[in-house]
Amino acid sequence: MTEPILQIEHLVKHFREGRHTIHAVNDVSFEVYPGEAVALVGESGCGKSTTAQCIIRLQKPTSGRILFNGEDITLLSARQMRQRRRSLQMVYQDPNESLNPQFSVRRTLREPLALYGLYQNKTQILAALHRVNLDQNHLGRRPHQLSGGQKQRVGMARAMMTQPQFVVLDEPTSSLDMSLRLQTLNLLRELQREFNMAYLFISHDLSTVRHLCDRVLVMYLGRIVEAGRVEDVFNHPRHVYTQALLSAIPIPDPTVHRQRLLLAGETPSARQLKPGCGLQNRCPHTTAECRLPVPFYPVGNGHVAACRLAKEEA
Ligand SMILES: Nc1ncnc2c1ncn2[C@@H]1O[C@H](COP(=O)(O)OP(=O)(O)OP(=O)(O)O)[C@@H](O)[C@H]1O
Ligand SMILES: [Mg+2]
Repeated sequence: MTEPILQIEHLVKHFREGRHTIHAVNDVSFEVYPGEAVALVGESGCGKSTTAQCIIRLQKPTSGRILFNGEDITLLSARQMRQRRRSLQMVYQDPNESLNPQFSVRRTLREPLALYGLYQNKTQILAALHRVNLDQNHLGRRPHQLSGGQKQRVGMARAMMTQPQFVVLDEPTSSLDMSLRLQTLNLLRELQREFNMAYLFISHDLSTVRHLCDRVLVMYLGRIVEAGRVEDVFNHPRHVYTQALLSAIPIPDPTVHRQRLLLAGETPSARQLKPGCGLQNRCPHTTAECRLPVPFYPVGNGHVAACRLAKEEA
């Protein structure tokens, strides 16, 4: 049995905001296996980026464990963590946050290699640039001389320089047009195949997720509410939140009729977290049971949903 490359156990991240506590991530657990593409989806503010930032230690978890190759990386010193970063990389939601404005593209791509003594010559840089459809004309440019999409691609090339085992990609294609988006997705597939690279793919673009990923985690209000193989979750979503989320995307098959499911009201604030299902005041199927903590009910093939409706099927 293969060991997971990443194990998140009961991850919690709260932010203090004056007198309030923002419950950004609430008891999230999941695993990623080598070579696996796992998607993390859910509406804006549900805690996806915070989860990602905890994994690469840009945020310190309030509690919980993050095991990378079996080792709890929340306990490592900054120096030890730097060593692990060779095989644990991230592509950021906003490339402006991650690229040093003073660094040329050449230097940006050389740094990660130099850091681990892997730099040999310019060919490595050019090959990496070529992969993301940039060329030597871009070598001397600094971030402000690149477009948003070009910056995003430099960020992606940089993350891949050291052939990491695991990469977190936070909305990596949102600033790219359709053809670059497709190209980027092909690149990810290639790296996955070639180096058995695993990744966590955060995206709002559910059609891309369906296309690209093996498994999907659906997050709502800081919790995972459903998880499973992409085809199972997309074809038979069990949680009412997932059903609502998916009903918003068009189905290409005209013989399938799906009703658009609209949830009542708005997502409650992450400041006042109630026990029980996050959807309890919005869901038409809510009963007293939903106001208590809801466990994950297995519905087969590793597919789980934290919804009482799934219990009846389980
Ligand atoms: N540094 C911070 N300080 C305080 N609150 C924060 C901080 N970072 C995130 N939050 C809050 O935590 C919650 C989760 O934010 P997060 O950025 O993880 O959401 P997200 O799922 O990535 O959303 P999006 O899809 O818009 O990127 C939000 O309520 C957000 O306002
Ligand atoms: Mg985000």
